[in-house]
Amino acid sequence: MRKRWLEWAKIAMVGRLEGEKTVMELVERLRSRRGVVGIIGLGYVGLPLAATFAEGNFAVVGFDIDTAKVDELRAGRSYIRHIAAARLAPLLRSVPVEAGQSGFYPTSDYGLLPHCDAILICVPTPLTENREPDLSYVTSTAEAIARYLRRGQLVVLESTTYPGTTDEVLRGILETTGLQAGTDFHLAFSPEREDPNNPQYSTRTIPKLVGGYTRQCGEVAAALYGAILETIVPVSSARVAEAAKLLENIYRSVNIALVNELKMLFDRMDLDVWEIIDAAATKPFGFTPFYPGPGLGGHCIPIDPFYLTWKARQYELTTRFIELAGEINHAMPGFVVQKLMDVLNERQRSLKGARVLVLGVAYKRDLDDTRESPALKIIDLLLRKGADVVYHDPYVPVLKPSRHYDFNLHSVPLTSEELRRSDAVLVATDHAGIDYDFLVEHSPLVIDTRNATRRVTAGRAKIVRA
Ligand SMILES: NC(=O)c1ccc[n+]([C@@H]2O[C@H](COP(=O)([O-])OP(=O)(O)OC[C@H]3O[C@@H](n4cnc5c(N)ncnc54)[C@H](O)[C@@H]3O)[C@@H](O)[C@H]2O)c1
Repeated sequence: MRKRWLEWAKIAMVGRLEGEKTVMELVERLRSRRGVVGIIGLGYVGLPLAATFAEGNFAVVGFDIDTAKVDELRAGRSYIRHIAAARLAPLLRSVPVEAGQSGFYPTSDYGLLPHCDAILICVPTPLTENREPDLSYVTSTAEAIARYLRRGQLVVLESTTYPGTTDEVLRGILETTGLQAGTDFHLAFSPEREDPNNPQYSTRTIPKLVGGYTRQCGEVAAALYGAILETIVPVSSARVAEAAKLLENIYRSVNIALVNELKMLFDRMDLDVWEIIDAAATKPFGFTPFYPGPGLGGHCIPIDPFYLTWKARQYELTTRFIELAGEINHAMPGFVVQKLMDVLNERQRSLKGARVLVLGVAYKRDLDDTRESPALKIIDLLLRKGADVVYHDPYVPVLKPSRHYDFNLHSVPLTSEELRRSDAVLVATDHAGIDYDFLVEHSPLVIDTRNATRRVTAGRAKIVRA
């Protein structure tokens, strides 16, 4: 009996040592950039990540179910304005890249997954109609990976989500293969912190949080990212990394809501909220300036905090700060439209029948991304009240139908005639390339939600901040 036990112990030990050897080989392959990296979801997060790995001499296979995007990339075109086609051109390959080679091969064929040492998931994590987490993109991706998962692979979730998604939802699906996370394959969460079009920071220079399902899973993931990124911040678990990402976004949402609320108050008190914030920001410690606007936009800040709100309910807690911030930020388009109505009213004009030119429909300056943009909500409110709406956005030539809206509008040129024809110009996005002096000069009235006209000196009486 004792002999048989010793035999078993020996087999287990050899198995463990062999396992260790395989892990060390994988880590070495990743560190020396000889591994193949698969990136699933080639959107605002996945595409720059793929480019960064390929620029770091990795072999990258990029997967997207949107074949139109794959075709665009294969034709050498970029569908994201701030990721230049010229940056992608030297990286793109027309045949699958092998380990040890470098380059980026876009595809919709999941059959190439076994080829990858690491699989990074960058798919959307939106909310459902009832404002609950919609993990369907993550689960369908996990099911696709499970069809091909092999021993020794590293799977990392990068999509923003609630704590527990990686080691409950994702692990659960991947382990239906019979393979065990932490033993047969490695599993981690590493949130994306992309700030699109911010020239100060890039995927390579933004510190990367990494939390593994096990300590070793975290170490393998850190080895991968450490090969190409400047700073890796290991944390104790995937859940901590998931929660940290949510804290970052909740912090922004709550602080923006605070200044949006103060904007409404100071407006009534006839005080300039922007001047007040700039004055407070001269304090060298204990104050970080946040700026008000027409509401929140983008794929992150308006959505992610509610992933935690939903999870908190399972712990019988109401996340009141998150809910309140959402309520205030959500109400801002209504505040802006009300302000416009009041000003038109003073001029004996009604919003019904007024021609309103909305300047900027992207959610953020100098981007072409309209997801959750407050400008869309403003346009919707204006149309419902009978206004005649046109828009100008140098980066969004056509407003394509989205989940909530289908306006059938295209960008009009920003000419003096177009401005003069309008009863009001409503600045929803402060794109840098706009000539605001020209805009104010030729417009009868400018409703400025971003303080974009702060440097305009002539015709200030026509500017109303909202
Ligand atoms: N956009 C940002 O600035 C930003 C910043 C930080 C974090 N995030 C998070 O990153 C994640 C991705 O966001 P994004 O902005 O890149 O989204 P996106 O919509 O731009 O890109 C997602 C891509 O995934 C593809 N896709 C969806 N399901 C797929 C599947 N099953 N297989 C393969 N491809 C699939 C889509 O076609 C799309 O191209 C989200 O969780 C988001 O919250 C985004």
